[in-house]
Amino acid sequence: MHRDDEHLAGLKPATRLVTSGRQYSDHGIVSPGVFHASTILYPSAAALRAGNQPYTYGRKGTPTSRALEDTIALLEGGHACKVTPSGLAAIASVFMAFLDTGDHVLITDSAYRPTRTLAHGLLKRMGIEATFYDPTDPGAVQAGLKQNTKLVFTECPGSQTFEVQDIPAIAKLAHEAGALVALDNTWSAGHFFKAFEHGCDISIQAATKYLVGHADCMMGCVTVNEEHWPRYKQAYEEMGLFAGPDDMYLTLRGIRTLDVRLERHMKSGLAVAEWLRGRDEVSEVLHPALPGAPGNDLWKRDFTGATGLFGFVMKETEQTRIDAFLDALSLFGMGYSWGGFESLAIPCDVTTYRSATTWDRDGQLIRLHIGLEDVEDLKRDLEAGFTAMQQA
Ligand SMILES: Cc1ncc(COP(=O)(O)O)c(C=O)c1O
Repeated sequence: MHRDDEHLAGLKPATRLVTSGRQYSDHGIVSPGVFHASTILYPSAAALRAGNQPYTYGRKGTPTSRALEDTIALLEGGHACKVTPSGLAAIASVFMAFLDTGDHVLITDSAYRPTRTLAHGLLKRMGIEATFYDPTDPGAVQAGLKQNTKLVFTECPGSQTFEVQDIPAIAKLAHEAGALVALDNTWSAGHFFKAFEHGCDISIQAATKYLVGHADCMMGCVTVNEEHWPRYKQAYEEMGLFAGPDDMYLTLRGIRTLDVRLERHMKSGLAVAEWLRGRDEVSEVLHPALPGAPGNDLWKRDFTGATGLFGFVMKETEQTRIDAFLDALSLFGMGYSWGGFESLAIPCDVTTYRSATTWDRDGQLIRLHIGLEDVEDLKRDLEAGFTAMQQA
């Protein structure tokens, strides 16, 4: 193992999340400390010349960052991890690390919108071509691969439309063509989908979501397999990336309760999804773990659980009625994030940016994040929304 965590081998995932990184704390204090550091002093000229002390400069790592990065690498099952100031910065850093001018990247059409914006903006300016493929069709990956394709980017499930991708099949095709596979693994939090066991080379998360878990800071993370770690680490260091110590601390603190939080998000999420399925106003529920829902077969094969984010499609109706539904909700807030303790509802319109061939539903798509409130209260809140909708 790359990390100093042999003592965790053989322990179950929940135990690892609670125990990992403790070797970085001192004086018997259970949590590793928050080190605010730029300058790190050397004890002598000889030590300075030897340059082999574990900490040399703030950006190059502190006990706070190492405790967090080791814990995430362990969670993801990868070789090593680096953290970034946001999830989007994590995605951008992967593109910067693994793509050069003249390269091509193949991106799932279901990708988080700013991933696409980055491809159309910065990547294009750098002479890197991006094309998009149907997330549900590995044949589309095969057809989209070019001689200069260096990276296939996946997001599973898509964080607005919830397509589950056949990651092992995509990884096989990509590797045969000499391309790497990166996954935006934010939905599963690295807990319910093991990217490296399914053929990915790189697993990215907006740690902002479930790892932080309390909607109070931004964080990204990139975990890489052993073969490709040196290239990523070098690019990360050249770009001067790091993250703030207080936010790193909050992320590690969030991870301690990840297992128990996700269990509740999953249970309540599924209960609300089932309930929505029985509503006349709803034409489709997009929850990968819901029997018979799109992607459920792949989810059953590859995932060990589900988190609290899913979507549903309203039967076609007037905008004023959709607005009445949303405005009547009091427990579900309207906001563009997810993964925290609180429930959220947001209308989504993916038709403005993605291909019509991969999203063909009529009716308003609404994304829900099911938080840690009592599920009966949440159903009552949604019921009030439907009542307001009927009266509008
Ligand atoms: C799937 C997914 N990936 C990446 C990100 C970006 O994360 P951040 O907001 O921390 O930059 C988000 C944020 O919503 C997301 O939903």
